[in-house]
Amino acid sequence: MAPSKSTVLIAAVAVFVTQASAAGTVSYNGLAITPQMGWDNWNAFGCNVDEELLLNTAQKMVDYGLRDLGYYYVILDDCWSNGRTANGTLQANATKFPNGMPYVADQLHSMGLGFGMYSSAGKYTCAGYAASLGMEKQDAQTFADWGVDYLKYDNCYNEGQEGTALVSYNRYKAMSDALNATGRPILYSMCQWGQDNPWDWAQTIANSWRMSGDVYDSFDRPDSRCPCTTYDCTLPGFHCSVMNILNKAAPILNKAQPGAWNDLDMLEVGNGAMTDDEYKTHFSMWAIAKSPLIMGTDVTAMTPQTLSIYSNPAIIAINQDPLGTPATRVWLSPAQPQNETYSTDSYTVGEASFWTGQLASGDYVAAFVNGASSPTTLSASMSDIFIDLLTTGSNAPVPQISQTWDVYDLWANRMSNATAQAIIMGNYTLPTNASSMSNSTSTMPVQTYNATAMSYADGLAANETALFGLKTAELMPGGTVQAQVPAHGVVVYRLRSQGGGAGMRKRDEL
Ligand code: GAL
Repeated sequence: MAPSKSTVLIAAVAVFVTQASAAGTVSYNGLAITPQMGWDNWNAFGCNVDEELLLNTAQKMVDYGLRDLGYYYVILDDCWSNGRTANGTLQANATKFPNGMPYVADQLHSMGLGFGMYSSAGKYTCAGYAASLGMEKQDAQTFADWGVDYLKYDNCYNEGQEGTALVSYNRYKAMSDALNATGRPILYSMCQWGQDNPWDWAQTIANSWRMSGDVYDSFDRPDSRCPCTTYDCTLPGFHCSVMNILNKAAPILNKAQPGAWNDLDMLEVGNGAMTDDEYKTHFSMWAIAKSPLIMGTDVTAMTPQTLSIYSNPAIIAINQDPLGTPATRVWLSPAQPQNETYSTDSYTVGEASFWTGQLASGDYVAAFVNGASSPTTLSASMSDIFIDLLTTGSNAPVPQISQTWDVYDLWANRMSNATAQAIIMGNYTLPTNASSMSNSTSTMPVQTYNATAMSYADGLAANETALFGLKTAELMPGGTVQAQVPAHGVVVYRLRSQGGGAGMRKRDEL
């Protein structure tokens, strides 16, 4: 039978819709257009979870301005359940959650936060509780009924359903489909430790995928329980250091896109075993890699130093940049000094590296990492910074290399300890509008930002000062950027052209 005119029209619209969504931003479920932010209890509390922990943490996230910096999801990790009811519905442990999960969700929602839940694509969770393999539809509906906004979905007890991309894909797709079928927007975070290379296939079914074994609170300590040093790993393990994960991530970062991110694992900032510089490096590199930024410390006991790292809006603005392009590692220099080469393979402890990434409006991020245990001076040329433009294979001129760039140091305006302490003590009025500078009720210098009042995208377009750190240098055509980088430290710059290119802002706009 020949199709009627209206059938042809509907078919044509369907084709158009498919093409339109393929050509633009492609989050498969419309979520995580920028990397998700929030808090998860696992790194600091392990199985010690209950309602009080979640709600107390949530309250502090609000009080300290962390929610308004973008930390939205409060994620309950493993160990929350007490098996299933007679009809198979997952049930919360009533001692830990006496008012039930819908109550927790309601409370979080009333604070302007989202509720994250945890299960595993296996028979049990990693701590041995009931999990969702084969029960995807029922469990997804339970989570939706409870008011859940986020699912972290682990990989333990998967009954051997791994080893090829398709087997893993199908196992994780079952929950993706089940979540979609509930009709509730639920961010889907695969916690699959990089097995079967999820960066090659997860973009159409999930919002993020873990790409390594579990992080632990160490900057660069080699550990047999995290045996791999490259991304192509059959034993992801746990006890992976910050530098181990960063090194594994370097070759695959470009697999991310808006709505689908490499997850370098939850942040250890504040947990006590790294130096302040090491935590700055950890936070900065996760941010510019476009990893989800999930705080992993005890928010209710934060030091001023910890709060001021999590609260750096100039770094978060790179993570939340509307272009959604992860930075890439441009070069990796040999370990310095040579006696630090105690771990070998593709990565040696002590190496230095340089990273760049394109941002919206033609800006660039440029970051130096010093893996050595003594300070050093590192520099990069314009052809390092604009390497991708110079090697695109076209003969198009590259105007960027003949422009002058303002160099903003994104840690130079870090919140002072006094301000952070005042926030923790409740003696500080956080801005209710976006601009931290117009917080007139306080005499303290302000280095924070309210992304609830104005998104990072709008704030960047409006040149909100808090998102730019401090201008410390100019990069002339043919020049180099240089940085004194502390031991195990980082220097992160935002580069902005003084003009001359389409979409470039004028110098005096800041
Ligand atoms: C691991 C996971 C951790 C945490 C833990 C809970 O597999 O990578 O982030 O969720 O399980 O048991």
